[in-house]
Amino acid sequence: MLALIVAVAHHRVIGKDNSLIWHLPNDLKFFKEKTTGHVIIMGRKTFESLPFLLPNREHWVITTNKGFNAPEGVRVFSSPEAVVEAAKEMDIAYVIGGAQIYEAFLPYVDVMHITEVDHEFEGDAHFPEFDASAFNTTSVVEGTVDDKNKYPHRFVTYERKGNN
Ligand SMILES: NC(=O)c1ccc[n+]([C@@H]2O[C@H](COP(=O)([O-])OP(=O)(O)OC[C@H]3O[C@@H](n4cnc5c(N)ncnc54)[C@H](OP(=O)(O)O)[C@@H]3O)[C@@H](O)[C@H]2O)c1
Repeated sequence: MLALIVAVAHHRVIGKDNSLIWHLPNDLKFFKEKTTGHVIIMGRKTFESLPFLLPNREHWVITTNKGFNAPEGVRVFSSPEAVVEAAKEMDIAYVIGGAQIYEAFLPYVDVMHITEVDHEFEGDAHFPEFDASAFNTTSVVEGTVDDKNKYPHRFVTYERKGNN
């Protein structure tokens, strides 16, 4: 099964200058809880924005660069379709971005975990528009705003209709 996980601010902004804009430890914790022990699927740019390989997760990277020099253990794919095929072997695999990769995988994902960040940021990467009527909203959990998590946020889960 394919799932997607993303944090989205106002106007669907998800990043700027190939990095994340806001710091929300609650969301990092949520991301870690969901993805640990699973495959994470990402575009080459998001891969290059990671400070290090994320522990206890198998990284799958999509690039058109046939000579892409991946660290040991990282699996490289040349198209989203090849990933969709390989993910059929997995109980669950998480699409973790960025903008191009979310767009490419939207037709294939069964579940979306969207952290809505209730704040306006300037950005250059956006989550694509999607047809909300194709999904049921199955969970909405308000995040706790505190000293370390300054922006209001909520964790929303969408499940594709007709999938049960
Ligand atoms: N807020 C969040 O939750 C979140 C999560 C992840 C990322 N982000 C942000 O998103 C931004 C990056 O997004 P992005 O759209 O610029 O980059 P991206 O989606 O991470 O990666 C784009 C790259 O993926 C490869 N690619 C894309 N489509 C492909 C296809 N059909 N076939 C083969 N390869 C393909 C290409 O690599 P090559 O050029 O090597 O061919 C392309 O340049 C950053 O700002 C990052 O911080 C935010």
